[in-house]
Amino acid sequence: MTTLRVAIIGAGPAGIFTADLLRNSEHHFDVTVDLFDRIPAPYGLVRYGVAPDHPRIKGIVNSLRQVIDQPGIRLIGNVEFGKDIDLADLKRHYHAVVFTTGAIRDAELRLPGIDLPGSFGAGSFVSWYDGHPDVPREWNLDHRVVAVIGNGNVALDVTRMLARRPEELRLTEMPNSILEQFERSRVTDIHVFGRRGPLQVKFTPLELRELGELPEVDIILDERDFGPDPAGELARSTNKQTQVVDRVLTAWRSRQPTGAKRRVHFHFHSRPVEILGTDRVEALKFERTESDGAGGAKGTGKFDQIEVDAVYHAVGYFGSALAGIPFDEHRGVIPNRAGRAIDDNDQLVHGVYASGWIKRGPVGLIGATKSDAMETVQSLLGDQADWWTPSEPDPDSVLKMLDERGIRYTGVEGWHRLDQHELALGVAEGRERIKVISREEMTAISRGERFGSVAETVLNSGGEN
Ligand SMILES: Cc1cc2nc3c(=O)[nH]c(=O)nc-3n(C[C@H](O)[C@H](O)[C@H](O)COP(=O)(O)OP(=O)(O)OC[C@H]3O[C@@H](n4cnc5c(N)ncnc54)[C@H](O)[C@@H]3O)c2cc1C
Ligand SMILES: NC(=O)c1ccc[n+]([C@@H]2O[C@H](COP(=O)([O-])OP(=O)(O)OC[C@H]3O[C@@H](n4cnc5c(N)ncnc54)[C@H](OP(=O)(O)O)[C@@H]3O)[C@@H](O)[C@H]2O)c1
Repeated sequence: MTTLRVAIIGAGPAGIFTADLLRNSEHHFDVTVDLFDRIPAPYGLVRYGVAPDHPRIKGIVNSLRQVIDQPGIRLIGNVEFGKDIDLADLKRHYHAVVFTTGAIRDAELRLPGIDLPGSFGAGSFVSWYDGHPDVPREWNLDHRVVAVIGNGNVALDVTRMLARRPEELRLTEMPNSILEQFERSRVTDIHVFGRRGPLQVKFTPLELRELGELPEVDIILDERDFGPDPAGELARSTNKQTQVVDRVLTAWRSRQPTGAKRRVHFHFHSRPVEILGTDRVEALKFERTESDGAGGAKGTGKFDQIEVDAVYHAVGYFGSALAGIPFDEHRGVIPNRAGRAIDDNDQLVHGVYASGWIKRGPVGLIGATKSDAMETVQSLLGDQADWWTPSEPDPDSVLKMLDERGIRYTGVEGWHRLDQHELALGVAEGRERIKVISREEMTAISRGERFGSVAETVLNSGGEN
């Protein structure tokens, strides 16, 4: 039996599903997988993207955990490809590599005024409230009137997090230092902008409906946005999701404001064109659009503006280039055929594969990364003649190399230690979990370098948890 050693870079859902399929699909190889992540914790955007008030979705980690606990799969955290290890290292130790590095950056939105203070990428906000270790710990929630650009689920997450009463967030895994900032939030009005019509939104029905169920929040729609739209009618009659979204919006149209403390205003057919202000965000200028009859929107030449104190743009995510690996600058992905990386000359790059958002772009739910992984794994297993020939295939040699470089990598036992630690922090406050956000603390706890009782840790964490 041939032993196949595969490195997977990125322990988000795509990486974990890939590892599972490599180990467990039918083939005649003895496969071992090393699953690297730059963070000393697995699960990617399930941990650092899915909103903290969605514990049911975060619960998918329970099935992902069963994969990383399998023999033959080694989690190696706190190791960044491109900084701590490179392609030459991988070629010495493995037969092939699968990149599953996802996308964490905000897609660029080219608008005049986008760099003004008070203009934020939704991805940065999400990373902050989800306690990503590598982002600043402070967020300015002093603004009263906020615009959110985009009609996708991330825009809904951002809107809901800004609109929710802080006491509801108290039940989540959110660290106290972040909760306290939400408690000081002055946000009263959130204006959500979509450049197309209400029948072209990318919201999913469940998430949209949830917004309308928030206590002490009024939803305000503009009747002018609901004019005739033949392409929208067609979508409604053929697409179940559009039908349900339409039903939710239609029900909201007849709602009367209750005088709630916070309001969410939807502006469809409104294409932002400029963020106005001299030394901070003061207003958002937008052009009214109308249906182009084919599902798109065209400008009407009529402009309007509203005064806002901050703008969050939620217009999608974007992948990052990896050293020595082909990258499509336009789409933010590793160019590939069925998961096999291809170079600028359209030639296969032997031994290099991709899966998940870095393969297909930053769209789709967690479950979709599984079908991605199936295709990529099938390609990899069928390519035996093109695999690398590692000079140091012994599983210990890669760990020795990391040790020699002074890299404080973490393993699956370390993750269980950190996981237990976070659960214990939660118990102390009657919550399921409280996240640790400092990279140093995550690493030290994982590596068993810092123990102590939960109470001691809370005291020592300097208010970080
Ligand atoms: C804000 C937000 C909320 C979402 N909410 C939901 C939801 O509620 N339900 C749902 O079904 N889907 C949701 N999604 C979509 C879901 O998160 C994605 O479909 C899924 O996470 C993509 O998986 P992935 O493994 O490709 O990427 P990721 O989850 O991003 O995982 C990539 C991993 O690679 C690691 N990595 C990156 N670069 C390197 C490197 N150089 N070296 C080592 N490691 C590296 C990262 O640390 C990360 O752990 C959400 C997405 C976002 C952005
Ligand atoms: N709870 C959940 O299930 C959940 C939560 C968060 C994210 N996700 C998933 O994660 C993926 C990413 O979500 P996302 O919200 O980042 O992306 P998305 O679904 O692609 O939505 C992006 C939105 O930004 C708009 N947009 C893009 N460029 C724009 C511009 N220049 N000006 C104005 N608007 C612009 C798009 O409008 P157009 O449609 O007109 O292009 C669209 O409304 C999605 O698959 C989503 O479902 C799921």
